[in-house]
Amino acid sequence: MISIIGSGSVGTSIAFLCVCNALDDVLLINRTKSKAIAKSLDLTNAIPSTSKFSISGTDDYSKLTGSKIVVITASTKTNLKNRTENISQQVTMIKKIAEKIKVYSPSAIVLIVSNPLDVLTYFFQKETQFSRFKVIGVASSLDTSRFQYHIAKKFSVLQSSITNALVIGEHGDTMVPIFSNIHINGQFFPMSDVEKDSITLDVRNYWKTLRDYKTRSQFGIAKNVYDVIDTILNKKKISVPVSLVLEGEYGEYNVAIGVPTKIDQDGIIEIQNINFDQSEKNLFKISSKTIRNNIQSI
Ligand code: 2OP
Repeated sequence: MISIIGSGSVGTSIAFLCVCNALDDVLLINRTKSKAIAKSLDLTNAIPSTSKFSISGTDDYSKLTGSKIVVITASTKTNLKNRTENISQQVTMIKKIAEKIKVYSPSAIVLIVSNPLDVLTYFFQKETQFSRFKVIGVASSLDTSRFQYHIAKKFSVLQSSITNALVIGEHGDTMVPIFSNIHINGQFFPMSDVEKDSITLDVRNYWKTLRDYKTRSQFGIAKNVYDVIDTILNKKKISVPVSLVLEGEYGEYNVAIGVPTKIDQDGIIEIQNINFDQSEKNLFKISSKTIRNNIQSI
């Protein structure tokens, strides 16, 4: 069973992909029971006739029992001006959710989607003491999709022709696009500092651009989370940047931050090394310091 905590636009978009692709049974949990039930009744009609799975909604955390995957998309407030705006309420929320998951589904792999993503991934792992390889903050892959989009747009190339473009670091204003390994159509693709700065700004501000157009992200994050769920349940393997608590990797201890990983049915199986230049290393340090400061502000 895939349990999704929070049935707003992100949670229900993830649920939609899961039911349409007949991945497993889905449970929506929301503090407002009627909302969870309403969304699940609507999503029920999207289940293919060939699927043996179902979807239901509840406010009862005991129904988490037996979940293979728990996805946390809940938020104490919507329409935030920045991802850390409601940080202390969000941390209080994640700790409460962590207590429940510890009781009802202690062997689940947990995907954190709520913001501030790295801070919440950190507090969830500390609170539950679950393996750090099973508490996965999903967002750097979304930032990477945005990076590829902006490279493609700027240089008028197909997104599918771009390889090794990756975003690591905070899922926030200090995220670090890595330019050192980018290839287009198999050829290394160097960029000027001006080009790098302009793309970095566009990637960092992508979600603000969405907000300015009077919407919030929904489908991009849903697809990135779905890919991780599909990998776990269908015993696949993917290389994907995600946030997890580091214990010395990339020179960082006791902070959750986005790094390249390999994931399979058991969660994160490898933290991968990449080539990055000194300026990218410096930006990664600034990014981890920013997350650390946010953690310490609680
Ligand atoms: C995003 O990057 C708001 O974190 C969300 O779209």
